[in-house]
Amino acid sequence: MATSLEGNKILAGILAAGLLAMVTGKIADGLVHPKELQENVYKIDVPEGVGGGAAEAAAQGPAPVEPVLPLLASADVAAGEKGAKKCAACHTFDQGGANKVGPNLFDIVNREKGSHEGFNYSDAMKSFSDPKNWTYESLNKFLHKPSEYMPGTKMNFAGLKKASDRADLIAYLRTMAGTPAPLPTAEEVKAAQDAFEKAKAGG
Ligand code: HEC
Repeated sequence: MATSLEGNKILAGILAAGLLAMVTGKIADGLVHPKELQENVYKIDVPEGVGGGAAEAAAQGPAPVEPVLPLLASADVAAGEKGAKKCAACHTFDQGGANKVGPNLFDIVNREKGSHEGFNYSDAMKSFSDPKNWTYESLNKFLHKPSEYMPGTKMNFAGLKKASDRADLIAYLRTMAGTPAPLPTAEEVKAAQDAFEKAKAGG
């Protein structure tokens, strides 16, 4: 009995000493190393910045599409009409023309996406809202590669890689309307060019 009580006292003594050492150690750390703590906070900031950049790049998705706004004013409407033969298997362009595999495209510039009477659009087309209407640049990105601009579209067409081909075609589509939509202003052209340069540079 006596020896085990003795043992407990010794154990308690050791524990108390250990605790004291830990507590004083913590206090000493706090007093002596504030600079080290600040440094750590700073070092963590750097990789966070890099990670954010990578996530932004991934969110940007595929490579930027060259804009047609700068090319529209001098585009070749006759060449566009020829190019439209690629579309004619599925589309008509004249006023009141029939819906075929794809909808009639009369007055398509600035028309609301997926809105032509009597055509059964995909959900992807019906729900596309950014932007809701077929602006020049929206047509440009769609015709560059339909499946990339609008995943889930049922327009089964690979796309037109050359910006000048898309510009000619869109210039032709523009003429197929009661009143052709206005050409882009100089400011709109410049804004499109700047946005493209910036996107190419990765920011
Ligand atoms: C193989 C058939 C096919 C070809 C070829 C084709 N399209 Fe389409 N197009 C479609 C279909 C189908 C839709 C409807 C897509 C949907 O609902 O997702 C469509 C939709 C469109 C729309 C959207 C119309 C709207 O009312 O919102 C445009 C603009 C368009 N096509 C332009 C063109 C042009 C320009 C070409 C030629 C370069 C072309 N398409 C070639 C089948 C085709």
